[in-house]
Amino acid sequence: MPASTIKPGLLFIGGQWVESAAGATFRTINPATEEPLTEVAEGRAEDIDRAVTAARKAFSEGAWPRMPAADRGRLLWKIGDMLESRVAEIAEIETLDSGKTITESSRVDVPMAADCFRYFAGWTTKIEGETVPVRPPCFNYTLREPLGVVGQIIPWNFPILMAAWKVAPALAAGNTVVLKPAAQTPLSALRLAEVAQEAGLPPGVLNVVPGFGAVAGTALVEHPGVDKIAFTGSTPVGQEIMRRASGTLKRLTLELGGKSPNVVFADADVEAAVRGASNGIFYNKGEVCTAGSRLFLEESLHDAFLDKLQAHTAKLKQGDPLDPKTRLGPQVSEDQMLRVLSYIDKGKKEGARLVCGGARPPGKGYFVQPTIFDGVAPGMTIAREEIFGPVLAVIRFREIEEVVRAANESAYGLAAAVWTRDIKKAHLAARALRAGTVWINTYGLYDNAMPFGGYKMSGFGRELGRHGIMEYTQTKSVWVDLS
Ligand code: NAI
Ligand code: MG
Repeated sequence: MPASTIKPGLLFIGGQWVESAAGATFRTINPATEEPLTEVAEGRAEDIDRAVTAARKAFSEGAWPRMPAADRGRLLWKIGDMLESRVAEIAEIETLDSGKTITESSRVDVPMAADCFRYFAGWTTKIEGETVPVRPPCFNYTLREPLGVVGQIIPWNFPILMAAWKVAPALAAGNTVVLKPAAQTPLSALRLAEVAQEAGLPPGVLNVVPGFGAVAGTALVEHPGVDKIAFTGSTPVGQEIMRRASGTLKRLTLELGGKSPNVVFADADVEAAVRGASNGIFYNKGEVCTAGSRLFLEESLHDAFLDKLQAHTAKLKQGDPLDPKTRLGPQVSEDQMLRVLSYIDKGKKEGARLVCGGARPPGKGYFVQPTIFDGVAPGMTIAREEIFGPVLAVIRFREIEEVVRAANESAYGLAAAVWTRDIKKAHLAARALRAGTVWINTYGLYDNAMPFGGYKMSGFGRELGRHGIMEYTQTKSVWVDLS
């Protein structure tokens, strides 16, 4: 028995479930079977305008920014609890819509999304201003205020989790939201809207408008009634958003692509590093912005390590993502599969040595075999561009200065990892690596309390933690003349 029922998607605007104004719909596909799952109402400019109007009304006249902070917290906590009580149902929807394994969606994505709401529920009562000593006879203080209406655009690789990372802190700070999920994976965000409605979130506080980037996304970015855009997705779209948002001077946080270096020194715990290298690139079929897609191996450990990694990779079960034993599902869409396969072709043509994988397995579904290239030179396309699939580029090095330089030779700077038992080397490397997150002797860990975001062309602004919620506030300076 399936835990979930897939039903046609509508737009959630002003607390109502509505059709798109143009009556437009699009299909979302199950990438494991290539079959359509259901029709979803397609939000366009007019729908975005309705959603922004609803969000503005809720911000300017509604209860949300005015209620006691603790009551806001209580509601967000309730949303977290309700998400948790529906893990099985939402995880199944997520797996059907995105191809990620049920193990990941039920143990990681949905529980972490629930925790994210509870984490930021706690922040509602902790957003404080300051008193500032200025020349007498003035008394000065600052107020931390919400921004207003926030537009949030999220990708398809962690649909419910990215929705939580965006919505929870924005609402905790007292903003109202228009969320546009990715067209490939709109269903779990609509479930989140249902949960928010049932939890009693006032109408207009959260609006969810599925649709296409070039239509609904652009309309949201250009809408004069939106105070900020928070975006996660590709670097080219981030650049486009920056250009388009300049017309109305919106605040931005951009969490963009990556080409993260995973550096293994010869003195590492090899078994742990092999697992870390595998997880780093094959978790969520490589559709991870922090994927450890450049594996740097110290010369003396290179051959033995690669053998172990290859053996480990051969054991990863690829197939039906609803099967709890499956470790690798299909890529999210045909487009993504073709994109990944074209990078594999480039790797072969540019002279990298294919160690394993390298093709689409036979049968239905947008699968790509877990693929490892050795002998990758830094100038090759597969060493420079974000592939966003299960494709690893292995590069050798001899010493720490060399590997730090090579690791930093990237337009991106989202994450990095180092594996070594030498505590000094580990921390020196952590400082030298130009990335928003550095993992030491682990890979891909997250916590709602830990800020996350990019250096360089991986974007700016931070999500999660204190930094994350402050991005949804602005500071007002108040002067009082006491003379
Ligand atoms: P994308 O960046 O186009 O999609 C992300 C979100 O942005 C979606 O909701 C999409 O509808 C929206 N969007 C697209 N164009 C827009 C525009 N002009 N204005 C406003 N919103 C817009 O990513 P796409 O094309 O689906 O994937 C292509 C590549 O992007 C991937 O192969 C991967 O390399 C990268 N990517 C990176 C992600 C990350 O988390 N760093 C997430 C998704 C994709
Ligand atoms: Mg889908």
